[in-house]
Amino acid sequence: MPFRERVSGALIVAPMTKGSNLPYRRLCVELGARVLVSEMVVARRLKQKRRSEFALLRKAPDEPCFGVQLAGNKPEEMAWAAALAEARGADFVDVNLGCPIDHFTRMGLGAALGRQPGRVRKIVEAMRAAVTVPVTVKIRLGWKADQLNYMELARAAVEGGASGVFVHGRTREARYRYPANWEAIAEIAAALPVPVIGNGDLLFPHEVRDRLAASGCAAVMTARGALIKPWLFRELATGYWDITGEERLALYRRYTTLALEHWGGDEHGRARARDFLRWHAGFWCRYVPRRADGSWPSMQQREVNERPRSALEALLERADEPALDYLTDELLNGGDLAAPPPVPAASPDARDARDIRDGRVEDAVVAG
Ligand SMILES: Cc1cc2nc3c(=O)[nH]c(=O)nc-3n(C[C@H](O)[C@H](O)[C@H](O)COP(=O)(O)O)c2cc1C
Repeated sequence: MPFRERVSGALIVAPMTKGSNLPYRRLCVELGARVLVSEMVVARRLKQKRRSEFALLRKAPDEPCFGVQLAGNKPEEMAWAAALAEARGADFVDVNLGCPIDHFTRMGLGAALGRQPGRVRKIVEAMRAAVTVPVTVKIRLGWKADQLNYMELARAAVEGGASGVFVHGRTREARYRYPANWEAIAEIAAALPVPVIGNGDLLFPHEVRDRLAASGCAAVMTARGALIKPWLFRELATGYWDITGEERLALYRRYTTLALEHWGGDEHGRARARDFLRWHAGFWCRYVPRRADGSWPSMQQREVNERPRSALEALLERADEPALDYLTDELLNGGDLAAPPPVPAASPDARDARDIRDGRVEDAVVAG
């Protein structure tokens, strides 16, 4: 099926280091997601035969359309990695041109590669020659506000044979400090002959529909939205879901089951599953429902739900470490969450909000 048809009208699960892990993608599929992208896979690490990197190529059994995102800046290496990903079941392969993290940009990867459109064209060309599945790129708008190169970069990728362009509507320097620039995304969608997929700040179903309609994009994509409320995919079919604490808990329990199925129930598997659960809990607690006056909280503002309807909802919105550890352990042990720890004196909420805006979320994830 042509790439345009495959993605048309979809809300895609974005590539996320740690975040788009296999069991989490399965949860999103169960909730209605139909196109999903892997965690970032570093081509060089595949060459080095690192097992942990190979694990990231795995497609879930029930995954309708799975893209593998590759990071690398050598055409031959990227072509080889793309062929490997295809052989392991990838439905498309994507090039990371947006990763902002110093560790990678210093090696000329991610957003640093995005400053070299000529090289990007060659990489896409080489990948195209090595695979039969579509090759896509994921770009930002530029390195910083006075160095916007999105049109040149997107065009170079298309010249190289890219079948689609994902656009995160911010610069590398901006991190998450400002809202995504959907005007620039629309400009790219209007200019390119291939499908453009817009990305940035989608959290509620009306935002998905409005951005899709107004931007001219073939599809849109969400990262933090999927982490904070994986039921966003279901809402696209059924409308805004005023979800209860119990209903949320059932989804978190489902992820726990999928995580244990994936990593295994032995000591090692349970430790892996715990690590991921604890990490996801740090996003789940950020969910805020529609406000009492009918208006919508935005992705950029960390709000606190002033109206928890039950003791469980009050627990699920706590962002302090004892609460997140408690939720994680109760999920892992099938507990009933009946005895939450006391709220510590100083709440870390303010720090969390800053971290999310300044992009330390991604940095913290990839540092390990
Ligand atoms: C935890 C986390 C990990 C991410 N890892 C990647 C990655 O590996 N590759 C990538 O291209 N973008 C990555 N991103 C960026 C997202 O794909 C997306 O472009 C960005 O978060 C904007 O979308 P949002 O506003 O829906 O969050 C990551 C984002 C988050 C929050």
